[in-house]
Amino acid sequence: MRNILAVLLLSATATVAHAGVEEKYNQSCTFCHGTGAAGAPKTGDKAAWEPRMKQGMDTMVKHAREGINAMPPKGMCNDCSDEDFRALIEYMTK
Ligand code: HEC
Repeated sequence: MRNILAVLLLSATATVAHAGVEEKYNQSCTFCHGTGAAGAPKTGDKAAWEPRMKQGMDTMVKHAREGINAMPPKGMCNDCSDEDFRALIEYMTK
């Protein structure tokens, strides 16, 4: 019984986290990454993201958390975790 509950809880969280990505993206990242403002690599622009992807996901998450050049720390998403940044980066680089 306890196992079934745990599985249900886990899958519920996974669904929420997934739905949250687009929401978080639309609340913060899109202002720059949707338009390429301030030299931000545009969402879905593979050529713009490719050289950045080469740094590795961990470095990208670190830059999202700490900021880099015109990219503000946390990209205006103050309640984003490293896991959120990872999902957001995957969303933007697709
Ligand atoms: C105020 C504008 C702005 C917002 C908002 C913003 N970014 Fe950025 N972002 C930038 C700019 C500009 C760069 C390019 C920085 C550079 O390399 O010079 C960048 C670069 C990045 C990079 C690449 C870093 C690297 O290592 O090359 C990642 C990852 C990133 N942003 C993630 C995010 C995420 C996730 C969000 C939303 C939570 C976000 N950004 C919101 C402006 C923004």
